[in-house]
Amino acid sequence: MNESRWTDPNLKPRELEQEIGLRPKTLDDFVGQEKVKENLRVFIQAARQRGEVLDHVLFYGPPGLGKTTLAGIVANEMELELRLSSGPAFQNSAELVGLLTQQEGPSAVFIDEIHRLNRIVEEYLYPAMEDRRIEIVVDKGPNARHFQLDLPPFTLLGATTRAGMITGALRSRFGIVCHLDFYPPEELASIVVRSAGVLGVTIDASGALELARRSRGTPRAANRLLRRVRDYAQIENRTVLDRATVDLGLTRLGVDHLGLEDLDRRYLGLIIDHFAGGPVGVQNLAVSLGEEVDTLEDVVEPFLIQVGLLKRTSRGREVTPRTYDHLGLTPPETGSASQAELL
Ligand SMILES: Nc1ncnc2c1ncn2[C@@H]1O[C@H](COP(=O)(O)OP(=O)(O)OP(=O)(O)O)[C@@H](O)[C@H]1O
Ligand SMILES: [Mg+2]
Repeated sequence: MNESRWTDPNLKPRELEQEIGLRPKTLDDFVGQEKVKENLRVFIQAARQRGEVLDHVLFYGPPGLGKTTLAGIVANEMELELRLSSGPAFQNSAELVGLLTQQEGPSAVFIDEIHRLNRIVEEYLYPAMEDRRIEIVVDKGPNARHFQLDLPPFTLLGATTRAGMITGALRSRFGIVCHLDFYPPEELASIVVRSAGVLGVTIDASGALELARRSRGTPRAANRLLRRVRDYAQIENRTVLDRATVDLGLTRLGVDHLGLEDLDRRYLGLIIDHFAGGPVGVQNLAVSLGEEVDTLEDVVEPFLIQVGLLKRTSRGREVTPRTYDHLGLTPPETGSASQAELL
């Protein structure tokens, strides 16, 4: 298995090695998402008792919450070999056939970003998921011949940040659908403590909680910030990451007390300064910020909505009174140039 496919592509080689070490391998090691874990535990146990592979599982939720990690855990708990792929990697149906026929015995197949599967490839997946068979067409036009190919048992593990972009037909073929949500600070703090152990750094309870509170409810962010705070602590000769050390590191990184970073503040500031607080379309914001729409929709907006700093309406994005408060700005009622537009 190519482990690098599992991880954040922006990591440096040494960090990549550490990231692999940070990934929990069993459901017991995976912190939080209790309902999801509880369900998976039951379904895995039942399937194993019957000597069958698990039904197909779809994981969805914002980036960095553990979809890929959970897919690995499911395969591990089922004692199945896991083959990794991602939606955009399939150019044609032959590649899908190749992936599904690679192994003779039961296996698990992971397709990341499954919402980006090409529609033709996706249609091949339907009978494969439902009846474990795939139709192969040889030759074209009047000479075309169709063959049915029986597939070995497999569990398809799909992951997506965009449940809304998956067709109903595909979604309905997943017997198990798991929604992952942002983690509360207490759970993130446990993840931070566990990661600190793996990385060999000492963090106390107050430091872990501070880091957790400022990690946008996201384990990937928590692990990344932990690595950076460790760097600051090392340079400052602090051996224990306590609250003050964490605060120092995060403040220098530009992470505020809610976990907002530079891009979040630029995003919100843009809506306020140039669009009178909104509503404004996301395309417009992406162009002004020089970012991809996908980055804004996947990475920036879900957390801002979660903490009540942004509203997504049919007319576009809008800030809230809380946004002005958080950024230390005066809301428009008390005298901004854009007041007239809002009234
Ligand atoms: N519940 C958890 N407990 C411990 N570590 C976790 C947990 N969830 C995620 N992590 C860690 O956070 C990092 C990101 O997780 P993962 O790659 O599984 O997220 P993802 O949902 O697949 O993200 P993406 O949508 O970007 O692919 C990994 O290093 C993983 O070890
Ligand atoms: Mg992933």
